[in-house]
Amino acid sequence: MRTLGTVVVAVLLCLLPALPAHAADLVHDFEDGTAQGWGPRGDGVSVTASAEAARTGTRGLLTSGRTATWHGASIPAPFARGLGYTVTAHARLAAGQPAATIAMTVQRTPTGGETTYERVAAATVTDGDWVRLSGTYLFTAESTDMQLYVESSGATSEYHLDDIVITPLGDPTREPITSDFEDGTAQDWSPRAAAVLATGEVAHAGTSGLAVTGRSASWDGPALNVLGRMGKGDKYAMSAWVRLGPDTPSGRLGLSIERRSGGTPSYERVVAPKDVPAGEWVRLSGTYTLAYDVEFLSLYIESDTGTFPFHLDDFSMTYVEPKPIQTGIPSLKDEVPFTMGSAATRPETLGVHGELLAKHFNGLTPGNELKWDATEPRDGEFTFTDGDHLVDFATGHGMSVRGHTLAWHSQTPDWVFENATKEVLLQRLERHVRTLVTRYKGRIAAWDVVNEVVDENQPDGLRRSKWYEIAGLDFIRTAFRVAHEADPAAKLFINDYNTEFPRKREALYKLVEQLKGEGVPIHGVGHQLHLNIEQPPASNVEDTIRRFAALDVDQQVTELDVSVYTDFVSSYDSIPPELLIQQGHRYKELFDVFRRQADHLSSVTVWGESDDVSWLQSWPIPRLNAPLLFDHDLQAKPAYWGVVDPSELEPLVRRLEAPAGVIKVDGRRDLEWDLLPDAPLARVSDVSAGFQARSSSSGLYVLAEVEDTTAAKDDQVTFTVDGRSRTLRRSGPGVRPTAAGYRAEALLPSGTDVTVTVRDSGTEITWAGKVTAVPAIKRTTAPRRPAPVPDGVVDRGWAGVPEISTGTWIQGGSGATAKVRSLWQGSTLYVLAQVADPSLSEQSANPWEQDSVEIFVDPENGKTKGYGDEDGQYRVSFTGRVTVGGTFDAVGVKDNVRAAAKTVPGGYVVEAAIKLPTVTLSPGSLLGFDVQVNDATGAARTSAVTWNDASARGYLDTSHWGILRLTP
Ligand code: XIL
Repeated sequence: MRTLGTVVVAVLLCLLPALPAHAADLVHDFEDGTAQGWGPRGDGVSVTASAEAARTGTRGLLTSGRTATWHGASIPAPFARGLGYTVTAHARLAAGQPAATIAMTVQRTPTGGETTYERVAAATVTDGDWVRLSGTYLFTAESTDMQLYVESSGATSEYHLDDIVITPLGDPTREPITSDFEDGTAQDWSPRAAAVLATGEVAHAGTSGLAVTGRSASWDGPALNVLGRMGKGDKYAMSAWVRLGPDTPSGRLGLSIERRSGGTPSYERVVAPKDVPAGEWVRLSGTYTLAYDVEFLSLYIESDTGTFPFHLDDFSMTYVEPKPIQTGIPSLKDEVPFTMGSAATRPETLGVHGELLAKHFNGLTPGNELKWDATEPRDGEFTFTDGDHLVDFATGHGMSVRGHTLAWHSQTPDWVFENATKEVLLQRLERHVRTLVTRYKGRIAAWDVVNEVVDENQPDGLRRSKWYEIAGLDFIRTAFRVAHEADPAAKLFINDYNTEFPRKREALYKLVEQLKGEGVPIHGVGHQLHLNIEQPPASNVEDTIRRFAALDVDQQVTELDVSVYTDFVSSYDSIPPELLIQQGHRYKELFDVFRRQADHLSSVTVWGESDDVSWLQSWPIPRLNAPLLFDHDLQAKPAYWGVVDPSELEPLVRRLEAPAGVIKVDGRRDLEWDLLPDAPLARVSDVSAGFQARSSSSGLYVLAEVEDTTAAKDDQVTFTVDGRSRTLRRSGPGVRPTAAGYRAEALLPSGTDVTVTVRDSGTEITWAGKVTAVPAIKRTTAPRRPAPVPDGVVDRGWAGVPEISTGTWIQGGSGATAKVRSLWQGSTLYVLAQVADPSLSEQSANPWEQDSVEIFVDPENGKTKGYGDEDGQYRVSFTGRVTVGGTFDAVGVKDNVRAAAKTVPGGYVVEAAIKLPTVTLSPGSLLGFDVQVNDATGAARTSAVTWNDASARGYLDTSHWGILRLTP
């Protein structure tokens, strides 16, 4: 171990805000004429209080008779284990002595180890003046024979000491650790294995950083021992700057912790490995809460794969003082007519997190601790330490427990499927289910027996997991049967995500219906409800709950969160406050649904109690997210008020684009309105509505589609644009009845501040916000024709098919362009792009930087921010290489496309056949559609042009694509 006694650290520690006071300072001033506990170290040395020299008062301590550098004055070290100290002394050489270094050192013998010497402070001292020596010392490991002593580089130097002060520092778990490597040492960092650590000139700040080379594995790199520096239940913010080493074009680096409790090591990620572009310093920052008693604790930098060299600089670890939780606000559980649950992992049962759980929630779902990898990591070896802890915490606080989860394709160890015949697999499953459910019999009220078994893109609607591949539906049947046998009183659930989307909803419905029909003891359906700030509308959730109500099953919302992102790549440095307000309104709408449907819903669980512990901080990429009801400091967010008291919410200024367009104002729905979805006005009692606008030189066209099945006298819609209002009565002009209610249209003077109020016998719903005029949405048509062969040859079948061309530049202002035609047959869309591009390149490793054509298709024309599962970005390079983009891993679309390309004089031709299996194509169908041409010069993209979408975000957001209408 290296001494912490550098001036840098000492200065930093002095700047710390009021550390908690411990024992008083220990002062040695020798004014009483004694050596005050100091004695000689080494043969022939004498140590006496002397009036020969004093820095203050009349006496100091003289050390003479030294014959070796390590000789000097010493004292049994007055240190208590687990604490840190500042040690200050003043030294001066006896008259006539040549200048020398005087140092304070600690000698100790760790239990079972060899004697070590740790430098606390050192300085050059002369006989001319008193010099101050000061440093800090942290006493962590169990040791014997501990001395503090003063030595000198001059073997025979005689010296005076005075005013030695030993000040206990605050609790070492509260002191920051920083490493800047400016002193040219590795500052306590050591390799985990074979890695070589050396300071060098590649620095993030200052002139010196730490270079890491010779790594033997992805986990090999610099590590810092932080045992004794973190308190159990305490949270720490960690930050480190990293950069790739030479000749390393790309790599991902992260920060992890190794802790050992009871001899068993565990590895935890503080910052999941993230992309470090070559030549750039990237900051890894995250927080960690220590939830265990540990005998080993080390943090380290690792890569996800590879052993490439890298640099580390400016590391810091600081204790995060918890803000007290708000005790004066209503408890969530008292405000809702169902069990209000939270997922929690072990760290969240401690400190303020534990207090927040206990105050607001009467349900608890262990976030990871009951999953297979946690409970049966090896065949027949069950571990329940963490599971028990959470179940005990819950029952101790009067919370009911949801057991999550017995059979899942994820977080399940490989051994489960190894050499598994169907029989063996079902035996393993049976033992696992029986063991868990029996152990918690009577204490776990509901189990997610199977998790995420539905895949609506399979013909039979079932996910092709290993479970399914080996055992078919029988794994589900077995899991439910055994769970029911083990605890007949437990409510058994089938749990899944995206159940609020119609296709998945129906696939799950069919499965539950079938299983119930067979007599499988399935009692409830769990809707995970991992939503985002925009999608899907709360009405989808209501439709789902209503649908399953027909099946006579209990329903629970099991993993609710609302990401602030609509895609899988964006990230904010700080989340815009308006977004948090919007989220508050979204939570309000969701809880309106839950309360209305409370007869069918026995509990609502959020996936994490507060933003700081949400899984969305690291999934699908590490990024700042804020999906829950309490913020990173556990304080109530607008989202909380949206649930508890929406009148506390700041009003939401909604935003809507009004594309240029002309409408016939007659209460009929023109095709123009179908180009976009209606913006929802959320339901209150029995009325809900959708709203749209179009801009034109004669004014702003507005539309309200009202759902209100019972006509009443005062049913009406009022549109207000920049202060001017128009009210349309349900029975008046401009209004027509529809199947679910009525439709109102009007033309108002142009303006931007718009309010739409829909009234239904005493109930009002409102949309209020800013409407922005934007260019018209481009549209084209695709006729039904015999299927062409997608070979890049323009055959005769394309003759007479309407053609569009790209002209919306999103990068550059000139370059490759395309003329595009499309036609359809069956469930397939065929697209022909004739590209004018005289020089072709595929040099870049990024497909979007190669000469290529991208075809964007949204089969339902959802115009959503962010992709849905069926939205695809199909890219074909000039050589016919196909790449596909979609939501997250593009599973829903990646197999949809067949394509070919052929170069021709002056460019190339792309022909693609895109299957759209999730919809039934027919004349009149509207598809979201766009085309983009990427123009590469060498390894760079030099221009890009689209047909309609000017946002340059078409790869993330479908809402600005144009329209393709199918014709007969
Ligand atoms: C998540 C946990 O919250 C994470 O800590 C873990 O790393 C991955 O799993 N659907 C589920 C949950 O059913 O089990 C998942 O929980 C989130 C998605």
